[in-house]
Amino acid sequence: MDVPYTALPAQWQAERSELLPLIDQAMSTGSFIGGETVTELERRLAHKCECKYVVTLNSGTDSLILGLQALGVTNSDEVITVPNSFIASTAAIVKLGACPIFVDVNDDMNINHNHIRRRSPERRRQSWRYISRAACAI
Ligand SMILES: Cc1ncc(COP(=O)(O)O)c(C=O)c1O
Repeated sequence: MDVPYTALPAQWQAERSELLPLIDQAMSTGSFIGGETVTELERRLAHKCECKYVVTLNSGTDSLILGLQALGVTNSDEVITVPNSFIASTAAIVKLGACPIFVDVNDDMNINHNHIRRRSPERRRQSWRYISRAACAI
């Protein structure tokens, strides 16, 4: 069976009539960086995610960098990650001067927690903290 990686055309057809007026409004007013529309999006996302605040950013890469910065990751830290994620995951860690530590994944491609336990026992608590809190932030 051929399973497409994404189904953007199908998703676009389903949401086209709802999205086109919003795109038209953003382009017509030039209000796509901050402003009323973005504030409303952040408010609705916060409501949906049942959290107090949501900050939308320009990219996934910047959200990873900002998330790690918010957790206090600096150049003296290790951050455990997986080698099968998009390069931005590792790039964000390196951007902050921290050291990426790769651990293996399970057959389902998700991080193998047993490998985390075997890594850096003296720094494990810190690494755990970043992983678990980063997962919440993402
Ligand atoms: C898992 C993951 N993280 C981060 C990114 C980076 O997102 P962006 O291209 O918006 O910076 C991507 C992009 O494909 C991604 O797949």
